[in-house]
Amino acid sequence: MSLRPMRWWDVEAVAALDAELFPHDPWSAEQLWGELAHVPETRWYDVHEDADGIDGYVGLYAVPPDGDVATIAVAPRSQRQGIGRALLDALVVEARRRGVTQLFLEVLETNEPAIALYESSGFESQGRRRDYYGPGLHAVVLRRRLAREEAAS
Ligand SMILES: CC(C)(COP(=O)(O)OP(=O)(O)OC[C@H]1O[C@@H](n2cnc3c(N)ncnc32)[C@H](O)[C@@H]1OP(=O)(O)O)[C@@H](O)C(=O)NCCC(=O)NCCS
Repeated sequence: MSLRPMRWWDVEAVAALDAELFPHDPWSAEQLWGELAHVPETRWYDVHEDADGIDGYVGLYAVPPDGDVATIAVAPRSQRQGIGRALLDALVVEARRRGVTQLFLEVLETNEPAIALYESSGFESQGRRRDYYGPGLHAVVLRRRLAREEAAS
């Protein structure tokens, strides 16, 4: 897996992918710049590349002991090849390194691929946020505990 930190010169490609994958609420280049401005203090962003360029990215917002999966996405051409799981695993390693003991995320309740990925990675439902993504677009809140002893490793 070809993972590496996201850099400022990746922002345009990531914003284009975000617009394709989250058409109702994409992150602009300015928002991504804002996120990268907080690396490494409270943020961590990695990308995955194939021969055609960036095809996946993931972001962590961490204020230990809590962390949030800020974003995770894989380009349609590269989905179902294990890249999403590799990105999430890398985020978990980084979260543990920072002393995060519980990771949260919100996901559209109809997003079955993402929910399957999260549940198979040990995330559990904490409840629901009505209209979180807009009228009628409800979110599920998921949490994964990271054991303290693992957080120290
Ligand atoms: C969710 C997403 C990141 C998964 O990335 P991916 O690289 O395709 O996922 P992987 O190949 O690593 O698959 C990991 C697991 O996710 C689940 N999964 C992924 N795609 C799935 C699909 N279409 N249907 C059902 N389960 C799916 C499976 O449990 C899979 O494990 P398996 O292959 O052993 O069955 C990707 O579908 C995506 O970018 N979607 C659009 C953006 C998005 O919704 N992001 C999440 C916002 S909260």
